[in-house]
Amino acid sequence: MRVGFMRPEWTTRISLENLRPLASLFSEDLAIDLGTVNTRVYARGRGIVVNEPTAVALDESTGQVQAVGKEAKEMVGRAPGRIKVVKPVRDGVIADFKVTERMLSYFIQKAHQRRTLVHPRVIISVPSEITQVERRAVTDSAYRAKAAEVHLVEQAMMAAIGAGLPVSRPGGNLVVDIGGGTTDVALISMSGMVYSRSVRTAGNHMDEAIMNYIKRKYNLLIGERTAEQIKIEIGSAFPLEKPVTTEVKGRSLIEGIPKGCTVDDREIREALNESVSTIVNAIRVLLERTPPELSADISDRGIVLAGGGSLLRNLDKRITDETGLPVCVADDPLTSVILGTAKLLDDFTLLRRVVVD
Ligand SMILES: Nc1ncnc2c1ncn2[C@@H]1O[C@H](COP(=O)(O)OP(=O)(O)OP(=O)(O)O)[C@@H](O)[C@H]1O
Ligand SMILES: [Mg+2]
Repeated sequence: MRVGFMRPEWTTRISLENLRPLASLFSEDLAIDLGTVNTRVYARGRGIVVNEPTAVALDESTGQVQAVGKEAKEMVGRAPGRIKVVKPVRDGVIADFKVTERMLSYFIQKAHQRRTLVHPRVIISVPSEITQVERRAVTDSAYRAKAAEVHLVEQAMMAAIGAGLPVSRPGGNLVVDIGGGTTDVALISMSGMVYSRSVRTAGNHMDEAIMNYIKRKYNLLIGERTAEQIKIEIGSAFPLEKPVTTEVKGRSLIEGIPKGCTVDDREIREALNESVSTIVNAIRVLLERTPPELSADISDRGIVLAGGGSLLRNLDKRITDETGLPVCVADDPLTSVILGTAKLLDDFTLLRRVVVD
């Protein structure tokens, strides 16, 4: 019998060389968080392989893609006239179908290290309140980007799973995902949405509010990247222990030349107040509609915040101040949704329960 003659080194060669490609066959599946500001891709067995701005730079004269992701974002407000930077996802939903498809193809290929013959199973997280047509737009983009199978799940549910909440058990979990385009507030119990609400006010809205405030008060025009930097540097939702200031540079509306001014945290808090109040009100509305048993759970467990917007200083304190409930921010709020979505790549039972298409 030939089998009996197999030498030990052959056995080693079989396990190392042949089994590795076999294993990689099963690790092509991807989880995608297609956010308004950032897109993340998680490859099964390899972790987060793409974490880049949702942006594509196009040459308008030829229609060719010049850059995608980080490189494209750096061109915002700085590229020559023929280059246009498109942000294809607006307020959580696809606004530019073709550009999204090109961006997804690029990211999917990047995730697969540019191997072209891979047709992965893809799970994509979307906001709770999108229409059937908007859902189709996401699914079609992924199919055209060569996905073999596409499943859609809700971002707020993924944020809760990613933040480690016990979503499958009976009991209320309240999660608020504050992204760039939308704030999703969701009450989850037994892997289902008891109630959810999505408002189109989040990080981008805050940046616009800062731009408008500086323009009105100091007659100074600033770009969106500068506004975002100010928000991250000194923005807050509730008074800080120590006041902080920052220098702002832009173009004077009166003299038309580069100029600067100094702003402090109190001013930026005032600028952000409307956005923050909209977010707090969305939470209040959900609390008012929560069935009493689940209300009791929430008063014990509190509210969990996720998404980049939850990094705004003292937002947790402001929500506690207005609702009387304990609030905590997820460990890494920028990756909660993608890590939650990634868990479904290995958990078919949970995927079947939470899938929305
Ligand atoms: N330290 C910080 N303070 C305040 N805001 C922050 C901070 N860091 C990031 N952000 C904001 O978080 C937002 C991006 O968050 P995130 O990546 O969760 O959004 P997204 O998933 O792309 O959007 P959406 O879920 O709405 O489609 C941006 O508006 C960014 O300015
Ligand atoms: Mg998001």
